[in-house]
Amino acid sequence: MGSSEIEEKADFDHIRYAQLWEDADVLTSALGDCAGKTLVSICSAGDNALAMLTLDPARVVVLDLSLAQIACLKLRIAAYKVLTHPEFIELTGSRRSTRRGALLNRVLKATDAETRAFWRALIPDAEKHGIGGVGKFERYFRIFRTWLLPLVHSRRTIDAVFVPRAPAERQTFFDTRFNTVRWRLLLNIFFSRFVMGRMGRDSAFFDHVDGSPAKHVARRIRHAGVTTDPSQNPYLHWILKGDHGDALPMAWRPEHYETIRSRLDRLDIRHGSLEAFVSTGEKASGFNLSDIFEYMSPETFREVYGSVLTAAEPNARLVYWNMMAPRRVPSKYLDRVETLTNIETQQKARDMAFFYSDFVVEEVQP
Ligand SMILES: C[S@@+](CC[C@H](N)C(=O)[O-])C[C@H]1O[C@@H](n2cnc3c(N)ncnc32)[C@H](O)[C@@H]1O
Repeated sequence: MGSSEIEEKADFDHIRYAQLWEDADVLTSALGDCAGKTLVSICSAGDNALAMLTLDPARVVVLDLSLAQIACLKLRIAAYKVLTHPEFIELTGSRRSTRRGALLNRVLKATDAETRAFWRALIPDAEKHGIGGVGKFERYFRIFRTWLLPLVHSRRTIDAVFVPRAPAERQTFFDTRFNTVRWRLLLNIFFSRFVMGRMGRDSAFFDHVDGSPAKHVARRIRHAGVTTDPSQNPYLHWILKGDHGDALPMAWRPEHYETIRSRLDRLDIRHGSLEAFVSTGEKASGFNLSDIFEYMSPETFREVYGSVLTAAEPNARLVYWNMMAPRRVPSKYLDRVETLTNIETQQKARDMAFFYSDFVVEEVQP
C-alpha cells in the first residue's frame, strides 16, 4: 500500500478547507498526555496540527495528499512568525480588517517560493474573506449565508443566536424563533446530496454515506443551538455571520499564540497519504485522523486501520470523526484496541464543530 483510494477519485488542486472544521479542544483532550512523544496529524488547513503543539510533543508529523492544503499550513507558519496575534486573526478572517493585503504581503515574504506563488493567486480572495475563507467548503457556506439565509432569517434573528443564554432559554429560542418551517425547507434543499456534492464536497465522498445529509444536519444544528452554547461557537458564527465572534478555534486563541510560535520547528510536514506514512516503518503515540476513514470504502478502511496499528506505539490513541458513515475499530482488531467511551462521551457533548455524528477515541493495547 502507499497510494490512497480517494487520491484516485477526487482532485486536490485547490483548497478545499481553508480552515479546520474539527474542534481542536476535543481533539487535544482526547489525545491525552503526549509530552515528548511523536504525533501524526492529517493536515487539512493545518490548524489542528498547530493546536497539537500545545500538548508539548517532540514532533508532529503532518500529512496530506493535497499540496494546496499543505500550503495553508505553510502560510500559517510564516504568519505566526511575523504577525502579532491581533494581526493574525485579521488575516485569518476571524476579525474584520481593511489591511489584509498588507498583512498577507508581509507573511508571503517570510515563506518559501512555492507557497508564495500559490497564495499570490489567492490574494484578492484572501483580502476579502481572510485566508480562512478561501476554500471550497467556506465558499459553500458563503453562498448559503449570502443568498439563502436572508430568505429565511432576519439579521436580528441571526444576531440573537449569539446572545448568551441558559440552556432552557436556548431551547425556547431554537424552537420558537430559529427552527421555522422555512429554515427546515432550506436545510432540505441546501444539504441535499446533489447540492452538497456539486458545491461543497466532492460527490465521491458520499459514495459510502447512508441517510440524508439534511436530516443529519438538522440533528446536529440542534446540538449547536441548544446542547452547546452558540455564543461560544466559532464555527457556527462563521457559517452564519462570516467571521468568528467572541470565541476562536483553539490554535487561533491569544493564550496559545506564543506557545505555538515557539514550537513551530516541531512540525514535520510531508506531502503524501497516511498509508504512505505507515509504510515507512515509523511509529507514533497519537494520531489525529480527521474524518479520512469516512472517505474510504469499508474494505479499504479495514486495511488502512490495520496498517495504522502497525505504526502505533503501545497506548497510542487514534482519534477521528465521522460525519455520516460509521467507522470504528474493525471487529478483527477488537482485541488489540480499547474504545475510550468515557472520553468520547465527554468530548462529543462539548464538540462545537457540530457536523459530525460520531467522535472516536481508541487506544492501542500494549
Ligand atoms: C478528510 S478531509 C476533512 C476535512 C475536515 N473535516 C476539516 O474540517 O478540515 C482533511 C484532509 O484529509 C486529506 N486526506 C484525505 N485522505 C487522506 C489520506 N488517506 N492521507 C492523507 N491525507 C488525506 C485531504 O486532502 C484533506 O485535506
